[in-house]
Amino acid sequence: MLCSTRYTHLLLASILTALTFHYPKSNAQLTSTFYSTACPNVSSIVTSAVRQALQSDSRIGASLIRLHFHDCFVNGCDGSILLDVGGNITQSEKNAVPNNNSARGFDVVDNIKTSLETSCPGVVSCADILALAAEASVSLSGGPTWTVLVGRRDGLAANQAGANTSIPSPFESLANITNKFSAVGLNANDVVALSGAHTFGRAQCRFFINRLYNFSGTGSPDPTLNTTYLATLQQNCPQNGSGTTLNNLDPSTPDTFDNNYFKNLLTNQGLLQSDQELFSTNGSSTVSIVNNFAGNQTAFFQAFAQSMINMGNISPLTGSQGEIRSNCRKVNGS
Ligand code: HEM
Ligand SMILES: *[C@@H]1O[C@H](CO)[C@@H](O)[C@H](O)[C@H]1NC(C)=O
Ligand SMILES: *[C@@H]1O[C@H](CO)[C@@H](O)[C@H](O)[C@H]1NC(C)=O
Ligand SMILES: *[C@@H]1O[C@H](CO)[C@@H](O)[C@H](O)[C@H]1NC(C)=O
Ligand SMILES: *[C@@H]1O[C@H](CO)[C@@H](O)[C@H](O)[C@H]1NC(C)=O
Ligand SMILES: *[C@@H]1O[C@H](CO)[C@@H](O)[C@H](O)[C@H]1NC(C)=O
Ligand SMILES: *[C@@H]1O[C@H](CO)[C@@H](O)[C@H](O)[C@H]1NC(C)=O
Ligand SMILES: *[C@@H]1O[C@H](CO)[C@@H](O)[C@H](O)[C@H]1NC(C)=O
Ligand SMILES: *[C@@H]1O[C@H](CO)[C@@H](O)[C@H](O)[C@H]1NC(C)=O
Ligand SMILES: *[C@@H]1O[C@H](CO)[C@@H](O)[C@H](O)[C@H]1NC(C)=O
Ligand SMILES: *[C@@H]1O[C@H](CO)[C@@H](O)[C@H](O)[C@H]1NC(C)=O
Repeated sequence: MLCSTRYTHLLLASILTALTFHYPKSNAQLTSTFYSTACPNVSSIVTSAVRQALQSDSRIGASLIRLHFHDCFVNGCDGSILLDVGGNITQSEKNAVPNNNSARGFDVVDNIKTSLETSCPGVVSCADILALAAEASVSLSGGPTWTVLVGRRDGLAANQAGANTSIPSPFESLANITNKFSAVGLNANDVVALSGAHTFGRAQCRFFINRLYNFSGTGSPDPTLNTTYLATLQQNCPQNGSGTTLNNLDPSTPDTFDNNYFKNLLTNQGLLQSDQELFSTNGSSTVSIVNNFAGNQTAFFQAFAQSMINMGNISPLTGSQGEIRSNCRKVNGS
């Protein structure tokens, strides 16, 4: 059979490699060609589905890239954020503090999975769907394209406690946020570049209203918030209003992936405290990176693509670890 011949070659190749190099199993790497044989159209299938979803929901690209981020920061990029409560999953990541009533796009992931199961059943992991959908979202919104590394497998567990504590909060100091990135092997460059994803998408009033009226008990708004922008935000987020009202993270070009996010920081128009801190924390190494990205979109796009690859490499499951889920919401057989 064609397959067994192919596997014999692979087996011989790995024996030869193993004889030459002594590498631990856990070093298995993601590659750009993992699905070349078993699902050659995976990228175009994902891109078509994201394109279609964008037609009825201009925000969905932003929501999808955020799912990949929140997946990778908890137990690595293993699709754990997608698991519903059920079987032995008693506490989902979906319901963790950073995701509850906030993370969205799960239905689009299900649609992508359904298309892929039709074209190449049992082949593409849900964790890889998130990585591919993130790239499609950025490129379809005017941002950079990059070659997504794939070969991740899906985890068997959710870690709600981990999601509560490992995903950065918008109320944290820059030092704390940088620590959470460094806990997963990402540096200050990655913090700034990846925060640039806030060039599209929305945020609810409850995530920044603390800046608008009585910041840190001072009785005044956050002094690093542009007063003109402050007035607009106060209108959209009144003191006793709904905390769930949506605001554009980048008011200048809300659905376009560009470097306006960084230009906004230079004029004190970062929406979240965690955004403005990148530029307004005196003496921080992040300030010059913000300046560079604000003045040079090419530099931002290059750095963003590299940092997405770095983030996508956080502790993937490979080889015989994990599984390929047939339904992204459930561990197989549960
Ligand atoms: C640096 C620390 C970060 C903090 C504190 C943070 C926090 C937040 C918060 C509070 C929201 C609003 C959620 C809501 O209102 O429901 C948000 C939205 C978003 N975040 Fe982040 N984020 C961070 C980094 C990132 C990274 C690394 C990415 C992706 C690479 C990302 C992508 C997004 C996107 C695209 C949205 C809009 C989502 C939508 O419209 O559905 N964020 N973020
Ligand atoms: C796969 O991709 C090829 C070329 O990229 C295209 O002609 C073909 O229609 C695609 N098939 C499916 C099932 O998407
Ligand atoms: C998630 O939000 C719902 C309200 O929509 C709430 O009932 C539930 O307690 C929240 N879950 C957690 C873990 O905070
Ligand atoms: C669920 O069961 C699998 C084995 O089937 C195990 O690996 C996983 O850790 C379990 N998850 C939880 C949350 O206990
Ligand atoms: C996550 O945080 C929420 C809110 O504090 C809490 O209700 C929930 O029990 C936490 N989950 C875990 C597993 O610690
Ligand atoms: C930063 O982290 C420390 C240690 O976890 C915590 O005590 C402190 O409250 C955090 N500060 C902010 C602003 O989140
Ligand atoms: C601001 O908050 C502090 C502490 O929470 C409180 O003592 C103070 O009265 C508030 N100031 C105003 C003007 O609401
Ligand atoms: C908001 O509600 C509090 C009490 O619930 C009240 O004291 C305050 O005057 C209200 N503020 C505004 C601006 O409506
Ligand atoms: C506030 O934003 C306006 C543009 O809306 C800008 O012209 C002004 O310079 C900004 N002010 C500060 C202090 O950054
Ligand atoms: C940064 O330093 C300037 C003076 O050099 C000061 O006015 C400003 O309040 C400081 N900003 C912060 C966030 O500490
Ligand atoms: C912008 O950044 C790119 C990539 O780092 C660099 O090659 C280019 O020279 C920069 N352009 C300017 C005008 O500095």
